[in-house]
Amino acid sequence: MKVDILLGLQWGDEGKGKIVDVLTPKYNIISRFQGGPNAGHTLEFNNIKHVLHTIPSGIFRENTLNIIGNGVVIDPIIFKKEVEELEKINVDLTQTLYISKKAHIIVPSHKIIDAASEQAKGKLKIGSTLKGIGPTYMDKTGRNGLRIGDIITDNFEERYNKLKNKHIALLNQYNFKYNIEETEKEWFEAIKFINKFKFIDSEHFINDSINSNKKILAEGAQGTLLDIDFGTYPFVTSSNTVSAGACTGLGIAPNKIGEVFGIFKAYTTRVGSGPFPTELFDKDGEDLQNYGNEFGSTTGRSRRCGWLDLPALKYSIMINGATQLFMMKADVLDNFDTIKIATAYKINNKVVDFFPFEVNENITPIYKEFKGWKQNLTKVEKPNELPDNLINYIKYIESEVGVPVKIVSVGPDRKQTIFM
Ligand code: GDP
Ligand code: IMO
Ligand code: MG
Repeated sequence: MKVDILLGLQWGDEGKGKIVDVLTPKYNIISRFQGGPNAGHTLEFNNIKHVLHTIPSGIFRENTLNIIGNGVVIDPIIFKKEVEELEKINVDLTQTLYISKKAHIIVPSHKIIDAASEQAKGKLKIGSTLKGIGPTYMDKTGRNGLRIGDIITDNFEERYNKLKNKHIALLNQYNFKYNIEETEKEWFEAIKFINKFKFIDSEHFINDSINSNKKILAEGAQGTLLDIDFGTYPFVTSSNTVSAGACTGLGIAPNKIGEVFGIFKAYTTRVGSGPFPTELFDKDGEDLQNYGNEFGSTTGRSRRCGWLDLPALKYSIMINGATQLFMMKADVLDNFDTIKIATAYKINNKVVDFFPFEVNENITPIYKEFKGWKQNLTKVEKPNELPDNLINYIKYIESEVGVPVKIVSVGPDRKQTIFM
């Protein structure tokens, strides 16, 4: 069986957690392939909301194995808290969650460097979640990192101290007050805690599973426009969030990839700094934020909101080779008289219909207007119950991007999902 991938086509928070949970019964294994606790994946069922940061979103379904892949970076402290929260509601993970030996570990000083670096950037700060993601991936590519498999080696503490001392030397360059010892004890306790879990050679495990016809879904974090190579650099995260990231983040060959599910909101949001051509600063933007409850799942920061951006969406579909689209949060548009989609940009008086190298304030979106449906979608269960104006909206998107919309989501609950 080939591996399917689910990933975000915008700037993250598209609703990946919800849909992974919805699709999990069709799979044997759910595996995260990149990112770390900068992610916040929300899922809702039985009127309870769960937010996952490191743990794959398949964890609430029986008979599913969840794997944290080699491309992920793990903060043992956050991991421990996440597991303990789940234990409170009787979700036992020790048998259903495996961790790649090659996943890198976030150490306390990574988080301090993240904060010091952001402070030094002043107005140009990335708006990082400050979870130590950038510094951990820097140590990975710089060949200094610690990996999960290192925990069980004799000289782990020595290697930790070596890395810490390197970080202390680096921090001397910043005018930044910090205290590593504060979290160090908690971190070592969390290392002991994570050691209770099964560490695996996940690339072997996953390829063996493929060969024995197991169905695997790779769960992305963040979104395509936050990708380190293809996102709005430097306002991006530090990993490959695109479909190719699933190959390197799990150790699967490109010819083992099946469907690529691209997930997007019916409008656009972004949290943190960086360009956002269709961002709204008017009442419509406020309404999107309020109806959509657009506050970050990890940091609680308010998310910037705007209309759907077609050049950006086409770009993301191209980079990922998306084969199916899932449109989320359609219900958030229920009350709008008019809904807009950016079909192209005007840059220095020229019309541009692609996502350019430089996305900056010189870009003015060109919009096409759609009549709103002015109807409550949250109780709709079947495609034929969807209002004509929404169908027009979807059909227009499909005809422009050339990929079918297979799921329309009309609320945060598992059940509020319409298969088209
Ligand atoms: P993720 O990071 O991609 O998993 O997305 P987040 O969980 O960070 O953000 C998505 C938010 O939208 C969460 O609060 C979800 O509960 C919520 N959500 C998901 N799908 C829908 C939907 O169709 N309608 C509404 N109103 N909310 C949704
Ligand atoms: P999920 O998986 C939305 C954003 C941050 C910041 C930039 C870099 O929930 O969709 P980092 O902490 O990686 O150094 O931050 O990326 N960002 C996200 N935005 N959803 C996420 O994850 C994000 N993870 C990081 O806000 O702008
Ligand atoms: Mg999120």
